[in-house]
Amino acid sequence: MRIQAVLDAATVESLLAAAVAAPSIHNTQPWRFRLDPHHQVLEVHSAPERTLQLTDPMHRAQYLSVGAAVFNLRLAALHLGWRPEVRLLPDPHNPGLLATVRLTGPLGADDQPPDPALYGAIPLRHTSRMPFTGRPVPEPIVAEMTSAAHAAGARLHVPDIAGTRRLLRLTGVAEARNHAHPGRTAETLTWITAPGRDAPYGIPVTALGPPDAGRRIPMRDFTGPIPAGRRPALWFERHVQLGLLWTAHDRRDDWLRAGQALQYVLLTATAHGVRTSLLHQAMEWPDLRAATALPRNKRCHPHVLIRFGYGPDGAGAPRALGHSAARPAPPPAAETEAG
Ligand SMILES: Cc1cc2nc3c(=O)[nH]c(=O)nc-3n(C[C@H](O)[C@H](O)[C@H](O)COP(=O)(O)O)c2cc1C
Repeated sequence: MRIQAVLDAATVESLLAAAVAAPSIHNTQPWRFRLDPHHQVLEVHSAPERTLQLTDPMHRAQYLSVGAAVFNLRLAALHLGWRPEVRLLPDPHNPGLLATVRLTGPLGADDQPPDPALYGAIPLRHTSRMPFTGRPVPEPIVAEMTSAAHAAGARLHVPDIAGTRRLLRLTGVAEARNHAHPGRTAETLTWITAPGRDAPYGIPVTALGPPDAGRRIPMRDFTGPIPAGRRPALWFERHVQLGLLWTAHDRRDDWLRAGQALQYVLLTATAHGVRTSLLHQAMEWPDLRAATALPRNKRCHPHVLIRFGYGPDGAGAPRALGHSAARPAPPPAAETEAG
């Protein structure tokens, strides 16, 4: 006899709370969720009103962010005992529908439950923009992060010293270009929130970090021409540990896959007590993005640089409510929306 398991409100709440904890470019949270309870499907839509027109005109970073949320949804479903079936871009007539996660039933005795530490890492992961100690992350942990990217359909390249220098130099060039571009600095600044402002989107000034006094790491300057928001420079780690996340193709579904891989890597690091931050500036200029690709690898489409190490936790950023507001059920399916 087949027992029909039913999604209850608490489960939906937990799934959405996990999804919205994902990182997103400038904390735009560019997703919207819709529940079709009859078919036990969570739809993940883009939120076009939270697009960065100048920084992310192709919406690639938006897809990365949504992919990260999809990874959390899937992980939370497994953790709660459900078997998730993820489809990326399931409807060619509805380009804003980026993914569906269908809960096909309870996990069976033969299903492998996920590592609880990975799920536990979801609320612990924050972007840490402070200097790291410089203590190297042991090779087995780096190998686990690399395997995580691979398992999610992407690659994580960990460069040697010369490769790291090259990637940081390109990021520095991008950072300088962003700085010199009034439109981009203005766009970025609109996503920074002043202390005491209770905004559900954007990055609080308190979560920003200092510039590197050693000028080795071009951390993103979110405050642009407004020096009041800028912290005094601090010395960052001398030996920067970086990973370049890339995929072998550069289509919309690859971007969503890269986002899932990004989140798998970040949660793997977090579960081991490793802090992370992202350097995306070079990806925002087509020539510099191309230049960050692995030399002699024509199939390398880079997406983001992940800096990792030991150090202080990030301050965290707010989220719009993940919980669902039930609406009267329009036929044929009841709907729940959030995001
Ligand atoms: C695609 C992408 C690009 C990002 N780029 C940067 C970046 O260049 N610099 C930075 O400090 N943070 C970057 N972030 C991190 C976001 O700012 C961060 O995830 C967001 O503010 C939410 O905060 P949290 O990660 O602490 O939850 C990026 C995140 C994503 C998903």
